[in-house]
Amino acid sequence: MRTGGDRPRPRFARFYARMTEEMDRHGLRGLRAELVSDLRGEVVEIGCGNGRNFAHYPDTVTAVHAIEPEPHLRALATQAAATAPVPVEVTPGRGEAIPLPDQAVDAAVLCLVLCAMPDPDRTLAELTRVLRPGGRLVFLEHTLAEGRLLRTAQHVADATIWPRLYGGCHTARDPLGSIRAAGFDVARHRYLHYPQRPTVPASPHVLGHAVRTPTPPER
Ligand SMILES: C[S@@+](CC[C@H](N)C(=O)[O-])C[C@H]1O[C@@H](n2cnc3c(N)ncnc32)[C@H](O)[C@@H]1O
Repeated sequence: MRTGGDRPRPRFARFYARMTEEMDRHGLRGLRAELVSDLRGEVVEIGCGNGRNFAHYPDTVTAVHAIEPEPHLRALATQAAATAPVPVEVTPGRGEAIPLPDQAVDAAVLCLVLCAMPDPDRTLAELTRVLRPGGRLVFLEHTLAEGRLLRTAQHVADATIWPRLYGGCHTARDPLGSIRAAGFDVARHRYLHYPQRPTVPASPHVLGHAVRTPTPPER
């Protein structure tokens, strides 16, 4: 079924579904488990893809509202939800207009998704709306490289072939800066390279968690 929240990218979706199996085998699975391991209560996962995080939610999570605009990935996520250890509901939608009421959830998950969004700041503003005060945002995102050479490679990749090959992905973004600018307190983060070898423009990542401050900035 096609809905207003749809963003079909059928070729990328099939490619990504295959690629995630490989990526998970080569280290991403552990990072996914770490990302969601401390969550509790009701959770929203933005751009859940084919649902590779679902298997890792701990039993302290009571419900996951998973939002995915790409129809093929959403169908695969719906299959993954059926065997998830916690209740997961997969729905169409975009981060820029999250289909949930204000202060609906205790936690939010962003996993390799801000890079693919036309308007990541709008999504972060939406998250301040749907999170309860004190709610937690966990993230694993591509980030700007520290070294000049790799940073230049990221800018060149983003301006040329990378977004076309990888479903709109941009590697040279600053998710931590955007998360702070949206009014979150970043409580913990670390930088990592995945994949470590070979190093590619998408290797630099940041993983961490932030807390929704009681009064987010005016928007
Ligand atoms: C690289 S994939 C990551 C998928 C999944 N989060 C994971 O960890 O494997 C990027 C995902 O973001 C989704 N996406 C793209 N634009 C989006 C938007 N505006 N709102 C929500 N999700 C979006 C894509 O459809 C895709 O599923």
